[in-house]
Amino acid sequence: MTNNLDLFSGAHESAPAPVVPDKVLFKLQQLRAQLNQWAHEYYVLDEPSVPDGEYDRVFQQLQALEGAYPSLVTPDSPTQRVIGAVLDGLAPVRHAVPMLSIRTETDNEATGAQAFDARVRRELELDESAPLVEYVAEPKFDGLAMNLRYENGVLLQATTRGDGEIGEDVTHNIRAIRQIPLSLPRDAGVPPVVEVRGEVYMRRADFVRLNARQQAAGAKSFANPRNAAAGSVRQLDSGISAQRPLSFFAYGLGEITPPAHGGPDFATHYAMLQALKSWGFPVAPQVCIAQGAPDLIAFHERMGADRADLPYEIDGVVYKVNSLALQRQLGFVTREPRWAVAHKYPAEEMPTRMEGLDVQVGRTGKLTPVARLAPVAVGGVIVTNATLHNLFEIRKKRVRVGDTVIVRRAGDVIPEVVGKVAGTRAAYVPNFRMPASCPICGSAVVREKGEANHRCTGGLFCPAQRKEALLHFAARRAMDIEGLGDKIVDQLVDGAVVRSLPDLYRLGLVALASLERMGEKSAQNLLDALEKSKSTTLARFLFGLGLRHVGETTAKDLARHFGSLDAIMAAEVEQLLQVRDIGPVVAASIHTFFAQPHNREVVEQLRACGVHWEEGAQRELGAQVLAGKSVVLTGTLPTLSRDQAKEMLEAAGAKVSGSVSKKTFCVVAGAEAGSKLAKAQELGLPVLDEAGMQALLQTGEL
Ligand code: IVH
Repeated sequence: MTNNLDLFSGAHESAPAPVVPDKVLFKLQQLRAQLNQWAHEYYVLDEPSVPDGEYDRVFQQLQALEGAYPSLVTPDSPTQRVIGAVLDGLAPVRHAVPMLSIRTETDNEATGAQAFDARVRRELELDESAPLVEYVAEPKFDGLAMNLRYENGVLLQATTRGDGEIGEDVTHNIRAIRQIPLSLPRDAGVPPVVEVRGEVYMRRADFVRLNARQQAAGAKSFANPRNAAAGSVRQLDSGISAQRPLSFFAYGLGEITPPAHGGPDFATHYAMLQALKSWGFPVAPQVCIAQGAPDLIAFHERMGADRADLPYEIDGVVYKVNSLALQRQLGFVTREPRWAVAHKYPAEEMPTRMEGLDVQVGRTGKLTPVARLAPVAVGGVIVTNATLHNLFEIRKKRVRVGDTVIVRRAGDVIPEVVGKVAGTRAAYVPNFRMPASCPICGSAVVREKGEANHRCTGGLFCPAQRKEALLHFAARRAMDIEGLGDKIVDQLVDGAVVRSLPDLYRLGLVALASLERMGEKSAQNLLDALEKSKSTTLARFLFGLGLRHVGETTAKDLARHFGSLDAIMAAEVEQLLQVRDIGPVVAASIHTFFAQPHNREVVEQLRACGVHWEEGAQRELGAQVLAGKSVVLTGTLPTLSRDQAKEMLEAAGAKVSGSVSKKTFCVVAGAEAGSKLAKAQELGLPVLDEAGMQALLQTGEL
């Protein structure tokens, strides 16, 4: 295990302090400054100056040097962004300066901006002859407010707004946002204590990608970018939130010493934003100075027109009095400043006529009712289809074909029908029913008890589900067909080159090389990968078939229990119920799947194509030295991949679990093990390295 493990435990403190040559200190500083500079160019300015590989090379250099001198690792080092901590809950934090909300105007652009300007002028006792008041106009970002506390230039704590007085400590997750500096420049007049406030949000494109990833992994997708951002920030497992693509815009300050008001540099809000920019924070490029109500109205109009094209969602604009002296003079009413107002845009909703109601079959077989609409512009985009989610939503909203319905669009999320405009139906229209058979493949449609969704039972046979099925089949933990990604699968299915799983093994070089962005070399690589995948295990094959409710573990249990595919295909529900952890729902799903002739046909054809595995003896007998024992794997082992280690442990009967508890039999830890190792040590559990695990597999004894 590496010295890195001691980073946050303070264990190195007891060792005699190593003598550190000045050269090393200098080098560390130099590498960190260089990486910070490059990250700023890449993530904030959007102007990378070096290729990714160069960044990685220097990053690894820093990692190696810090590995050799662990006592010199500082929390603001670029290597310390993701610390992998898993928390039990988020700690409450009282804000040093309350996080206020702003008064909202929803009137149209003219009256909203004019009303605000008139109020400001009245409060400041400016008569008509006085000059225009100077404002700063900003987008109102649709994310969540964040307070970032820096002491002596180092990010110490990140807190959510909460109720304005007390927020939650989310430092562990916020550190992973590359746009947020872990330390501020030394020479830019950064105060000793400064809280930077702004909005954490998710860009539309990142949101779409995240949802696709969630869906592919069978995880829940998010309704909109704001929910995705909020859910990610409030994650307890910083490892998960580090994979969520979050962004940040700065728009204000919290506590600051010396106080901002009277501080020498900031006479205006705009100057303060410029300072934040020079400290490395992203400030929205649209932010501008506006003279009086006319400029505010123009800004509101301009942003409204650009809104749909922005890379992130905004729900309005914010106007702020620019002069900090005037801000002080205006002060607050209860929890809202008199010097700022949010001017919201109306929700992106429009009425239109529902001309038809179709059913779409998604990649997972889910049937979704989709309203066909008379084309209507919603938030700058012409909408012709909108989802109604499921049968129960239709019933709840009481919409029928011919109704005038309200359509809502939120960013790149699929538009939805919100409800109907009362009393618009011209004639009698029968109530909508879900089809009894799949509109694509004709297979039976079912809805399981307690579920809102109807599903097609066609499985591999249904073209709508083919792409998903192919990707699942090719996945690393299934048949592991390297290079068969979604771009290729889309082309193969759309071009009707591949209609079923066995077709994959019938692909030739010519067909593959003619696909877009596919040279002869990558075509050959894919053919090699397909060939290699033919030699597999029964568990991988079963998992790859993608039966509903049959995940990796169940596939392994089935393979171990029955020993052969024919035995599984022939098994009655009662026999399936004998398998460890298989209940009635899973047993029924397996039984139904293999009862379908077309599924059996697919299996036979795959075998005929040469897909094979070692069958026969239920290997567990005699060899299950770890039967029923729970083992946790953490960190990187020197020779085995995590999957290999997991497979070996499971073959010996162990249950490989993701979390450490008192019931854990032992923990196998490799390099860069984190909180799980710490927890094991805390609980006094046995901790093994790779060699120790090999020994354990022989005897089953520690
Ligand atoms: S300023 C005292 N500026 O809107 C003023 N807020 O109620 C404090 N928001 O939850 C806020 N964009 O997260 C400000 N450019 C912007 C903003 C903004 C979005 C959010 C903020 C807060 C809410 C204000």
